[in-house]
Amino acid sequence: MQIGLEPLILPHTREEFLSGGWPHVPVAIHGLNESIRALRNLSFLQSREALTAMWPFAIRAHLPDASDESSAIEIRGVDAEKVFANKMSLLFNNVERLSPLLVEWLAKLARDLGLPMSTYGRCMVYATPDGGGTATHFDQNINFVLQLHGTKTWWLAENETFQNPTARHTLGQTIDPELSPYQQGEFPKEMPSTAGRIELKPGSLLFVPRGTWHRTEATGDALALNFTFNQPTFIDVFTLALRSRLMLSPAWRELADGVTSRDVDRRLRATEKLEMLLHELADDVPNWQASDILQATEGDQGACDGSCQGL
Ligand SMILES: [Fe+2]
Repeated sequence: MQIGLEPLILPHTREEFLSGGWPHVPVAIHGLNESIRALRNLSFLQSREALTAMWPFAIRAHLPDASDESSAIEIRGVDAEKVFANKMSLLFNNVERLSPLLVEWLAKLARDLGLPMSTYGRCMVYATPDGGGTATHFDQNINFVLQLHGTKTWWLAENETFQNPTARHTLGQTIDPELSPYQQGEFPKEMPSTAGRIELKPGSLLFVPRGTWHRTEATGDALALNFTFNQPTFIDVFTLALRSRLMLSPAWRELADGVTSRDVDRRLRATEKLEMLLHELADDVPNWQASDILQATEGDQGACDGSCQGL
């Protein structure tokens, strides 16, 4: 049995996928069958009712006001059918907790994609009632959406307001403060008219890139399995390595004492101490190599050429 990327993108190969629009362009595949049989055979994915019956954890139910993860309540399985009958979508998070196969699949997918070691991958299942779906939004994660039951239509559009967003946003909701500094231009008023429309049926796979505007609508009750990965950036990789490096220094490990002191002299001494540490760091930085940083964060999976030492 094959797991990871290739069974999800047949007849395309991993190389074709990665040399295509990855990681910025949506990809839809239809008619998957034999290659995803092991996933489809998982007992808890046979139906929404089967999953609910086997699910010992809380379920997120999306409130009708925003039809979105940003407006949700937690319910128990015993209430799931009643809530679903009231046209609320259900989200089962970290479904890999039910199956070692999903854990393996996530790890293999991350390796196939060459994602950083610090990547957080998880499986989510969305149960969407007929006519339900998500409001227009974008995520900071990537998603591989495998449609298991029912039909779901997706509308997708390029995000011209945020390039490489580090937080999600739902149109019309309060903006995350992290996004504001790099917003470019106005928000669209609604899903852009240039949006592409893709209909997912059982056996369809959709790759949704980070930042892509999307909204969905189910025709008939629908169930989809998502493989979701956060997207550690060069900021994340570098700051992780930098922290490891600075942790070796007793001076950098010192309490940042007096930085908010009302005593002007104490605050000045704190500023001078940080200034000195920054000068030492600046002297050291020219010796840093990207391959050494990646060896520190990614180990043998990184781009080390065999001559790496420390950071
Ligand atoms: Fe989303």
